[in-house]
Amino acid sequence: MIDLRSDTVTRPTPEMLEAILAAETGDDCFGEDPTVRRLEERVADLLGKERALYFPSGIMANQAGILAQGEAGTEVLAEARAHLVHYEEGSVAAHGGMSLRGVPTATGLMTPDELRAALRPPSPYHPRVSILALENTHLDSGGRVHDPEEMVQVAEVAREAGLSVHLDGARLWNAAAALHLTPDRVAAPADTVMTCLSKGLGAPVGSMLAGPAPVVERAWRIRRRLGGQMRQAGLLAAAGLHALEHQLPRMHEDHARARRLAHALSALPGLRVVPPETNVVMVDVSGTARAPGHLLEALAREGVGMVPFGATRIRAVLHREISDAQVEEAGAAAARILQPD
Ligand SMILES: Cc1ncc(COP(=O)(O)O)c(C=O)c1O
Repeated sequence: MIDLRSDTVTRPTPEMLEAILAAETGDDCFGEDPTVRRLEERVADLLGKERALYFPSGIMANQAGILAQGEAGTEVLAEARAHLVHYEEGSVAAHGGMSLRGVPTATGLMTPDELRAALRPPSPYHPRVSILALENTHLDSGGRVHDPEEMVQVAEVAREAGLSVHLDGARLWNAAAALHLTPDRVAAPADTVMTCLSKGLGAPVGSMLAGPAPVVERAWRIRRRLGGQMRQAGLLAAAGLHALEHQLPRMHEDHARARRLAHALSALPGLRVVPPETNVVMVDVSGTARAPGHLLEALAREGVGMVPFGATRIRAVLHREISDAQVEEAGAAAARILQPD
């Protein structure tokens, strides 16, 4: 199976498994796991933040970042198609009593004007907005990357209005690679940043929340409240450290393969492909007059896995386990389905 469903499907390499076996561990609940500490210090350093905290998942780390900065009865603004709005089970509402308002944008990447338009004039009759949550890369738009200058400006508009800025940087590493910037430059406009080790970096489990020490201390308690505290988590953290060392430098290879796959697919009748900026290939199939599910079944029969994305789109994500030859084969399989002769 050429598994392009997500960059979360990767399995640990033999070298990563060796790093896991060699990990020094302790009870992280007592703050005694040296490998978790090392990972947290490494990520804080890479992201240019005071502290970082290890989480079992991105959804939990997003929540903790937001709950640690907002309060019940206030609003969280996020781009209307954000992961936070559509894929996180309303968690900040369910667990933090905050309402989540989706801000419609032209491209998925919020501009300062789009944020200004969403902010109401101060009034005792409206809920206070406490947090702006950005997403970089922005998944729904096809893994697009925020322009760094524009992101600084959006964050400035948010701060002028008294908001904290949280960044869902599940794929921040991909954004940094695409921009040829260090990760701290991409993280800089945000107060808190969530980032995943389990996606393009290829670790089996784990996400991080980074930010100012007092916020991360509050997030520690929230993680505990959510049941996300782990014990000898150094076994998993070792995989994260290994991934940062060995996978971070090769993100651009996935981006190049995404461009090649997009190029092959865009030549096929009825497919409209967003030119990839990172490792996501988003394909609108409405021009084929076939339902996404129907095409996906045909692709699966050819040994290619992709997923539906809404009513008219399918998605492929490139990752460490996909080779150039498999990209070619995936393109050829799509051609056999859409151009039978
Ligand atoms: C943009 C984005 N944010 C957050 C998450 C949540 O991460 P996790 O699956 O580790 O909870 C994902 C997962 O796919 C994502 O794509």
